[in-house]
Formats: sequence, structure tokens, C-alpha cells
Amino acid sequence: MVEVSTSILNVEEGKEAETFLALEKGKTDYFHIDVMDGKFVRKNTYKKMLEYASYIKRISNLPLDIHFMVKDVKKAIDDFGVLEPRCMTFHFEACENYDTAIQYIEQIKQYNSKVGIAVKPATEVADIYPILPYAHLVLIMTVEPGRGGQTFMKEMTDKVRQSKVYIDHNDLEVDIEVDGGINLHTARPVKEAGANILVAGTAILKAIDYGEIIRCLKKENGAL
Ligand code: DX5
Ligand code: ZN
Repeated sequence: MVEVSTSILNVEEGKEAETFLALEKGKTDYFHIDVMDGKFVRKNTYKKMLEYASYIKRISNLPLDIHFMVKDVKKAIDDFGVLEPRCMTFHFEACENYDTAIQYIEQIKQYNSKVGIAVKPATEVADIYPILPYAHLVLIMTVEPGRGGQTFMKEMTDKVRQSKVYIDHNDLEVDIEVDGGINLHTARPVKEAGANILVAGTAILKAIDYGEIIRCLKKENGAL
């Protein structure tokens, strides 16, 4: 079953509350929280995303799907872990080595949260094979992390397919999440390649009817 995680990075200021409630009504499966520190990526959304996530935690039972685009992963896990997110995902490129990655994985699990490992477009998914068995999710970036509204990188579809083959061949229980430029057209190839969680920001937030776009993104045949 394909799930949808709506990125709230570019929610219109002043309309946050009504937008979050409308997304809940539109049956998004998760709220995707894009945490940026101004170091791992240029933008800094840290404080705003902590406020948004804390607010959503108060008004909604829908799970938080947190995407750390930060250098100080340890601090971010502690800052956001207290909100009891469903999943906390860090970038492999923010880890000095595999031992550091394992430390982050264990730290996330102490918050009873699922663990996601994200890879930038230039990173081979094979680079994370040694630590994938300890994670619940691989986040395949289909744009360069750092901002919303970018164009989907179609060559990432092969990386999704490669991940799916590896996960199935090794009997791993790992979800494949895709993030960046996902809309009704780009959702189809990545679903066919094996993605089962779609992150979308622009495609959903610009729609008049959130429920309709979320339903269409989830449709198995991806019909428009
Ligand atoms: C980019 C973020 C994505 C982005 C998705 O760094 O990780 O979650 O906000 O937004 P769209 O769907 O507009 O590409
Ligand atoms: Zn994201």
C-alpha cells in the first residue's frame, strides 16, 4: 500500500493551522518535517520546523515523519525525539563513518521511533547496504536536498529499483520513501520501481482539494 507524507516546508505563513487541519482531513498519512540547519544545506528551518512539529503534535494524532538535513544529527534527534515522531531520518552524508551511523540509529531507537537513512542523488545506495538492516526506511532524494519546488530527477528511478531489488533479495523489512518533485506524473515511475512512501510538498499544497491529490498519488495505477 502506497502512503503519502506531505512536506510542510512551504506552508503559507499565517495559514499553518488551517493547512494542517485540511491535510489531516485530506488523509495525508504523515506530516513530513524538513529540518534544515543552514550548514548541511543552505536554508535554516530548524526553529520553524520545531514549532510546527510541536504544534501538530498538539492538534493532530497523525504521525510525524522527520527528515533531518543537518550536520549535528545527535542534537536534532534529542530536540525532535521528545515529540515521539513515527520516524526520524538522517542523511548518510552527515555521518563520519558507519560507526557514527550506528550510533545515530541506536539513539533514534531510544525514542521508540523508526529509523530512516537518507541518500542524496550523488550517493550510491550500495554505500548504505552495511547499515540498511538496522533501519526501517531508506529515503531516496529525487532532488538535491535544501528546498521545495524543484524538478524531479528521473535518473533516481533506477536507484529506487536497485534499492527494491536489494531489499527483497535480502529479505529486509525496509520501506522505500522518495522525496522531491513528486507529483501525479513522477509518482508513477517511482511507485512502479518500488517506492511505497511518497513525500510531496508543492504538488499537494498548491492543490485546491488536498484529499483528491492525495488519493490520486496513492492510486495503484497512478491514474490521473
Ligand atoms: C527538500 C525536502 C523535500 C521537499 C519536497 O530538501 O527534503 O521534502 O520539501 O517538496 P516538493 O514536493 O515541492 O519537491
Ligand atoms: Zn524532505
